Amino acid sequence: MVLLDIIEGVPQGKALDLTEAAPIEKHDAHVAGTNAYDVSKGSHIVIITAGIPRKPGMSRDDLISTNAGIVKAVTEQVVQQSPEAILIIVSNPLDAMCHVAYETSGFPKERVIGMAGVLDSARFRSFIAMELDVSVENTHAFVLGGHGDTMVPLARYSTVAGIPITELLPKERIDALVERTRNGGAEIVGLLKTGSAFYAPASAAVEMAESILKDKKKILPCAALLQGEYGINDLFVGVPVKLGAKGVEEIIEIQLTNEEQAALQKSATAVQELKDVLKKLK
Ligand code: 2OP
Repeated sequence: MVLLDIIEGVPQGKALDLTEAAPIEKHDAHVAGTNAYDVSKGSHIVIITAGIPRKPGMSRDDLISTNAGIVKAVTEQVVQQSPEAILIIVSNPLDAMCHVAYETSGFPKERVIGMAGVLDSARFRSFIAMELDVSVENTHAFVLGGHGDTMVPLARYSTVAGIPITELLPKERIDALVERTRNGGAEIVGLLKTGSAFYAPASAAVEMAESILKDKKKILPCAALLQGEYGINDLFVGVPVKLGAKGVEEIIEIQLTNEEQAALQKSATAVQELKDVLKKLK
């Protein structure tokens, strides 16, 4: 595993720290830290997190012009070193940065995937478990749409031990959990003040990478390029996908109610607006 950053010493220090944790974590993985892209040559998966984080009061969309430049520059270097890689994008605004990486890399759509739904669903699951005082392991949740204020947590498909939460909680409690999920990133930014969440986004990206590297074919909500699915065209939007060795191996189209479909469409419109902003930046 290679950790790469432009700041001298930081990836080297983090890599050494992780290496020193290995005896306790019981693995023999080799972790290298570097400022040079050639060390990452031939990577199977590249997780791009580069960019500035939000400050309190900012939305993810406020980052677009700075981070578009950063993600473009990073993607160009990654493509040179690892032309066969699968890209997992984490930088914000997520759905727009997927477009930047997709267009810059020229990779097929199967190999450019955005991390958002796994994180947003994990937040929803945490809040459901807290609310019902049950193990997080019993929870399952689906959050679709863009990684922003228009994300679509699907209560009907969110369950505890297989029971839909709509059977377990009154509507106003579900609405409150949905609202907290939508603001999950901002809640952390408000507390940290100088940065955004680390641990849950990292765990989410690792779950996606593991499904790809081990060809597990997990169905996970991820940002994928839609070409007609869900009635959406040429936009990266969060939907359930099957993640395996080839990257996005299938986009799963689940039946949505009219209200859910309208919410997903609203989310897609928000992604389209960011895509239009990107066009003006060029
Ligand atoms: C979050 O939701 C950073 O967008 C990321 O925390």
